[in-house]
Amino acid sequence: MLFRVILLTLCILVSCITGQTTTIPQRVQVRVGLDTVLQCSTKNTGDSVNWLGPNGVVLFFGSRRLISDDRFTLNQKYRNSWDLQITNVKAVDAGLYKCVPKQREPASDDVAKVFNLEVYVPPRIIPSKSSKDQFVQEGDNTTLICFASGFPHPNIAWHKVSGKEEKLLYEIYGQHQGQFVFSEITRDESGVYKCTAYNGEGMNDTRTMLVDVQYAPTISTNVQVKGLDVQLECMVEWNPQGENIWTKDGEVIVQNWKYEPKIINDTSSQTTMILFINQIEGPTDFGQYSCIARNKYGNAIGNITMPVSTESSPGKGKNSAKENGVCKSLTLVLMTIFLSVYEF
Ligand SMILES: *[C@@H]1O[C@H](CO)[C@@H](O)[C@H](O)[C@H]1NC(C)=O
Ligand SMILES: *[C@@H]1O[C@H](CO)[C@@H](O)[C@H](O)[C@H]1NC(C)=O
Ligand SMILES: *[C@@H]1O[C@H](CO)[C@@H](O)[C@H](O)[C@H]1NC(C)=O
Ligand SMILES: *[C@@H]1O[C@H](CO)[C@@H](O)[C@H](O)[C@H]1NC(C)=O
Repeated sequence: MLFRVILLTLCILVSCITGQTTTIPQRVQVRVGLDTVLQCSTKNTGDSVNWLGPNGVVLFFGSRRLISDDRFTLNQKYRNSWDLQITNVKAVDAGLYKCVPKQREPASDDVAKVFNLEVYVPPRIIPSKSSKDQFVQEGDNTTLICFASGFPHPNIAWHKVSGKEEKLLYEIYGQHQGQFVFSEITRDESGVYKCTAYNGEGMNDTRTMLVDVQYAPTISTNVQVKGLDVQLECMVEWNPQGENIWTKDGEVIVQNWKYEPKIINDTSSQTTMILFINQIEGPTDFGQYSCIARNKYGNAIGNITMPVSTESSPGKGKNSAKENGVCKSLTLVLMTIFLSVYEF
């Protein structure tokens, strides 16, 4: 009982100072950087008011300034007007303002006036709270985040950018944070992604980020015959690029008059390894040639057996069409060899 009385007394005291009433706040909207005036006047000339800002901070006690920020001023056009003027409004100024009458005569029925100051702020993407470029392994789950300030709460749109083309992927409305989720990302999802924050105020803000999906190498093989010369080719798909070597029967091939290894970067994730063999001469040139490519995610081996047999060996099924070509070419090579031997 006593507790209730104390509570009630406290409430009355508090409401005397802060003017806590059931008044519905009056909406005041202003663009950041502009000025605004919250109008308040007393019924009785000679009464004064207290002005309270967001979080109950007392700004003015009658004509006495309690806030050091000189963007806040009292604007007293008439003897009973106590307008609060805010110049160069900032985002942090948003919130509830109260004009609480200080009555000399208790009978007076002046009530507090409440304002809800809404500060309109163009969107701005906060880099420290947003994703940077992502380097991820294929199959990973990864999420891109864009965090934007602004009022009203911005909408955030996600686009994939390829050259001048932008494809809308996803959009979220009225949120500070927008995210784009990749579930078990694939190499095709590599690319440049862009988030746009907009809320109808000022300029849109955007941020782009690279998603680089990395994976272990894979190899497909091919053989080209040019007379007595043979060109072995391994098409490597990998990201990032790494090391590559050629071996023959397990021995690393070094460049000499017979072997010329060469690398062509087709794209940043496609490399063609070429081994040029000068003048195939017979059994010493036969054997298993392997191209080996390795990056931090693993390695791949492409085998080419010389001369190529018609039976398919494990791992070659994928390239059976090419193998047939190889087989024909090699028959050609061998015929040429025998022909040249015959000429001696
Ligand atoms: C990725 O998320 C899926 C569900 O979306 C889950 O089944 C899978 O285990 C996750 N993979 C990894 C590598 O975390
Ligand atoms: C802001 O972005 C939205 C969504 O992408 C777009 O509809 C609007 O035209 C853009 N506004 C400006 C000023 O660029
Ligand atoms: C191919 O790319 C790799 C890695 O980017 C680089 O080290 C190498 O020099 C490039 N080779 C050629 C022939 O451009
Ligand atoms: C290539 O040859 C090596 C060594 O003989 C073997 O371990 C590997 O499995 C072969 N790879 C393919 C794809 O045939």
